[in-house]
Amino acid sequence: MHLTNEEEHMLAGGEGHATQKAMQILVALGDIYGAEQMVKVASVQVSGVSYKNLGDAGLEFLTVLAADGKARVKTTLNPAGMSLTDWRSQGISAGFAEKQLAVIDAYRRLGVEISCTCTPYLAGNEPRFAQHIAWGESSAVVYANSVIGARTNREGGPSALASSLTGRTPLYGLHLEENRKATHCIDVGTLLWYPEDYAALGYFVGKVVRDGIPLFRGIRLASLEELKSLSAALASSGGVAMFHIEGITPEWGLCSDQMEGIPFTTNDLAETEAQLNDQGDPDFVSVGCPHCSLLELATVAKLLDGKKVGREFWVCCSREVKRQSDKAGYSQTIEASGAKFAMDTCMVVAPIEEMGYRVVATNSAKACHYLRNNGLRVRFMSLEECVQEATKRC
Ligand code: F3S
Repeated sequence: MHLTNEEEHMLAGGEGHATQKAMQILVALGDIYGAEQMVKVASVQVSGVSYKNLGDAGLEFLTVLAADGKARVKTTLNPAGMSLTDWRSQGISAGFAEKQLAVIDAYRRLGVEISCTCTPYLAGNEPRFAQHIAWGESSAVVYANSVIGARTNREGGPSALASSLTGRTPLYGLHLEENRKATHCIDVGTLLWYPEDYAALGYFVGKVVRDGIPLFRGIRLASLEELKSLSAALASSGGVAMFHIEGITPEWGLCSDQMEGIPFTTNDLAETEAQLNDQGDPDFVSVGCPHCSLLELATVAKLLDGKKVGREFWVCCSREVKRQSDKAGYSQTIEASGAKFAMDTCMVVAPIEEMGYRVVATNSAKACHYLRNNGLRVRFMSLEECVQEATKRC
């Protein structure tokens, strides 16, 4: 791979050990994928933050890098395994909290913004069309590529962090326009009324196209919340990193010569929603996967107004969106009901199974997928049904 003088200097250790290690990771990646050069990135979103997933090996890796490494571009962080301020009221153990705070401290020393959200595009990290970025949260990767038209591969935690420390990523995959063409054409033959329907559509299609790029036909309008749900679901049941919607997303005209056609019917919608449901009475309810938008918080506040929750109910969002919600008066209504804001974290990356919960109700297909992997049972519901479920016993 061709490297500039500056990149060679980093690789030779001239910018310190952490930068050298980071450049080694990126050169190895570039060699594997046949990249001819590096490209500068405008921002980075780092995944791999929860101590639940990182463990002691991950914490040690970060601690070593933090000795002399520094972010060179705007770098934001995925959710951690707990709220950084209210972890006690969430029922997190002191042992877990100590390790999680050490992880956050390492990221802080690396110059990473402690944003702890999977919707960086709602919280101050908003890439522009055609900008090269290196993001490591799969739902945000899909959203950034598809809805914004920015360019990123699905980065892992180490490669995203390596991009942060060098300001570069190897130029391959979705950074190149020829690789951004749709590979499958999805004929949506049913009306999608709610964000949950988009989640079910994404879950169905992700399984079929795996790491392909679907082009959806038959969708006339889609809100930010619906696109956010679709992005998360596509990335969880499959390895999708980008989609197009005819007439809606900015690069929908990019198509392969031969696209496989796949119908999505009313029956497929019903069957997918049924597949995302296990048996059992939920003892934990959570919305905000990916983290809630302000509009979703407004809806939750309206539904909870004057009611009390009867079981653990987490509303997951970024601190930035919570601040906007405070200003708009939604937070007060939500908190008065007994529901808890889960900032910095979510129901999947927090150790809720160790806290004794067994059945989770949620409006997220992605959360259903990963909660099942964590050994929990799930109930897939609309946002309204989640609030009804949370307030049922009162
Ligand atoms: Fe975000 Fe957690 Fe879902 S990180 S996308 S809320 S699994």
